[in-house]
Amino acid sequence: MIKFEKVNKWYGEHHVLHDVDLTIGKGEVVVICGPSGSGKSTLIRTVNRLEEIQKGSITVDGQDIHAKKLNLNQLRQRIGFVFQQFNLFPHMSAAENIMYSLVYVQKQNKQDARKQAEQLLQRVGLAHKADAFPGALSGGQQQRVAIARALALKPPVILFDEPTSALDPEMVGEVLQVMKTLASEGMTMVCVTHEMGFARDVADRVVFMDAGHIVEIAKPEPFFSQPQHERTKRFLADIIRV
Ligand SMILES: Nc1ncnc2c1ncn2[C@@H]1O[C@H](COP(=O)(O)OP(=O)(O)O)[C@@H](O)[C@H]1O
Ligand SMILES: [Mg+2]
Repeated sequence: MIKFEKVNKWYGEHHVLHDVDLTIGKGEVVVICGPSGSGKSTLIRTVNRLEEIQKGSITVDGQDIHAKKLNLNQLRQRIGFVFQQFNLFPHMSAAENIMYSLVYVQKQNKQDARKQAEQLLQRVGLAHKADAFPGALSGGQQQRVAIARALALKPPVILFDEPTSALDPEMVGEVLQVMKTLASEGMTMVCVTHEMGFARDVADRVVFMDAGHIVEIAKPEPFFSQPQHERTKRFLADIIRV
């Protein structure tokens, strides 16, 4: 589904992704973890071309996404993205946030789009908040609306960049629960997260990054019980201590 081959990226002189090789299968849930600044966000942002790469290739469903003639809008319709900071349109209701791509990208009429938005809100447990504005929703609710919005165009893949890091602790669970349900429905998901419980329970594989390198890729059980690399052991010890 997603294939990184020898991917390298620089910000100016700063080499932030080093020869990244990773293949993610259809229906797979991959958790990416690693210290701050290790290149996790940069890596997933390359998949929908929020970041350019300078060397290597990335294909999604066999399509080279860094090809010059690629239609970027079409690509982004096929890849959902959920950000740490929700990024909802503040002047639109929850339903309108979700309807936006249906109406303006897919040219659906507003009535049909509204119906779909309501169904999507139901999937994330927020049917009763269709007409609420983001400012009137809790962080956890806003992030669930953002997930519903990411689902609107029925993308085969959703990327998550620390979707629970901006939330108060009591709201983390409701967002992880929605993600867990999506995973069980067979969605292909790449999740940058420090939620190691989620990684253990839901991930098919865990990727550990450090300083722009993929250091280790393993299934959760061996990843947590027998990490192979010194840097992975140190990282796990550090996050379990906090
Ligand atoms: N827009 C940018 N310009 C220059 N350097 C950046 C930019 N974004 C990130 N970086 C640098 O790239 C490295 C990787 O960052 P990032 O992918 O955000 O790491 P992570 O998500 O793992 O915390 C860091 O050293 C960071 O400072
Ligand atoms: Mg990041």
